[in-house]
Amino acid sequence: MVKKNACVFISGFGSNLKSLISRSRDPNFPVRISLIISNRSTAKGLLHAKKNSIPFVVIDTAKNNYEIIILNLLKKYQITLICLAGYMKILSNKFIKSFNNNILNVHPSLLPKYKGLNTFKKVLNNNEVKTGCTVHFVNEKLDSGKIIIQKVFYVEKKDNLKTLKDKTQQLEYKAFPEAIIKIYRKN
Ligand code: GRF
Repeated sequence: MVKKNACVFISGFGSNLKSLISRSRDPNFPVRISLIISNRSTAKGLLHAKKNSIPFVVIDTAKNNYEIIILNLLKKYQITLICLAGYMKILSNKFIKSFNNNILNVHPSLLPKYKGLNTFKKVLNNNEVKTGCTVHFVNEKLDSGKIIIQKVFYVEKKDNLKTLKDKTQQLEYKAFPEAIIKIYRKN
């Protein structure tokens, strides 16, 4: 199988990045992680890039033309899929359009419920019976693109912000690679 080149965008811890790198080692996994982009030089996730000798770039988002810099990098590394894994910057409409239908995001709720931040708090405040994660295509509206995959678990009485986050992330590590397999199986 000829693997496509994927770029993972991160801002923080990079645990989803870690799981994607690990899954991408499977020869049958449709993509290889060829580039990692972070908007924060202190992002812990960059360690996974270093450990696995994957090229990474820290982007200075204070620069007006930073998205053009990213697009040039994506071209250089022949990237055909972008995975947003905890990337905390909003991409411009122009950027999203130029990568139409090839940007995925993982979100820690069962979209369309609880778009944006503080999902676990909202889940607890609303006494949700179940929650989970969603991997979706990115469009011009926040957390609103077509859903590829969702994974669900039941909220327990003893759950708190931390346990909800842990349980959700455990599902994300499975959901993101599965979503990638699913979109390439279809095409
Ligand atoms: C993930 O849990 C995801 O739901 C959200 O950001 C978090 C990033 O975590 N979009 P990590 O950096 O992958 O550990």
